Amino acid sequence: MSNTTVDPGPVPSGWQRWHLLGLEELSADEIALILDKAQLFRDALDAGARQFRLLSGRTCVNLFFEDSTRTRNSFSLAARRLGAEALDFSASTSSLSKGETVIDTAKNIEAMGVDAVVIRHRTPGTPLLLANNLRCSVVNAGDGPHEHPTQGLLDMLTIRQRKGRIEGLTVALVGDIAHSRTARSNIWGLKKLGAKIIVCGPSTLVSPRWAELGVEYSYNLNDILPRVDVLNLLRIQFERQSTQPFPSVREYAHLYAMNRERLARAKADVLIIAPGPINRGVEVTADVADGPQSAILDQVTNGVAVRMAVLWLLLGKR
Ligand code: NCD
Repeated sequence: MSNTTVDPGPVPSGWQRWHLLGLEELSADEIALILDKAQLFRDALDAGARQFRLLSGRTCVNLFFEDSTRTRNSFSLAARRLGAEALDFSASTSSLSKGETVIDTAKNIEAMGVDAVVIRHRTPGTPLLLANNLRCSVVNAGDGPHEHPTQGLLDMLTIRQRKGRIEGLTVALVGDIAHSRTARSNIWGLKKLGAKIIVCGPSTLVSPRWAELGVEYSYNLNDILPRVDVLNLLRIQFERQSTQPFPSVREYAHLYAMNRERLARAKADVLIIAPGPINRGVEVTADVADGPQSAILDQVTNGVAVRMAVLWLLLGKR
């Protein structure tokens, strides 16, 4: 089984990008191309393939200035599965503590002979800053509350697999819309592929201004549940807030936790996804998170396939 592999063909001539900074700037065709290639990798992984040798001799570096479990490890694994080398940079033990800037740090890492830098940073725009200052490819793995494109893509791949399509679906993003980069990447990506989006949460975390982008907003989860095909449950990003957006976590859970009673109000085939980490009992109860409607762990498997597709598209031509 381990010899199983896949031939994705040459990188299509329609793909001209050097960096992946966000889903806002991608066209519907570019997003569909990434999803199609990711599906190819997912099928091969499911069939037992582990070594693809499509990027032999290339090097990808993870530059993570914020914590991560899924994103960081799946980027490393994706690079290795493609035959590239994967290097991990640890911000906490680096010379940043000695006053080196992020650009200088990245330039020094690049000078070691690196083909792609995968960056996560708390400041929106840091990946763009690096893209403007480095010669290698830059992939945004989350820049503050701005974008998390590979998360958006793996959410879309999961939805497409489970629902057979994206166009015409109603997807609700529930929780901390104000501070969630997953929300933004979902909104850009899903809207381009024809889904209808509802953002839902407390009024302190959901702005009516989303309507200006053609997104419906709601403060009442119970009201919207019957017409939703997909629920993407977002964590409250306490680390990005200076004031508490609601009186207590218990009150938030009372109004917005996806639990068995709320599931009974939703469509019978509603799909539950979440980027993780999940806080059991806050945005989702354990029985729903682990229940038959949930694709939360399957999203993680798709995360490797999506990151393989992205790295291959960015580096496969050179
Ligand atoms: C998300 C992130 O870091 O933006 N997690 C992830 O990448 N899987 C969401 C979150 O932290 O809540």
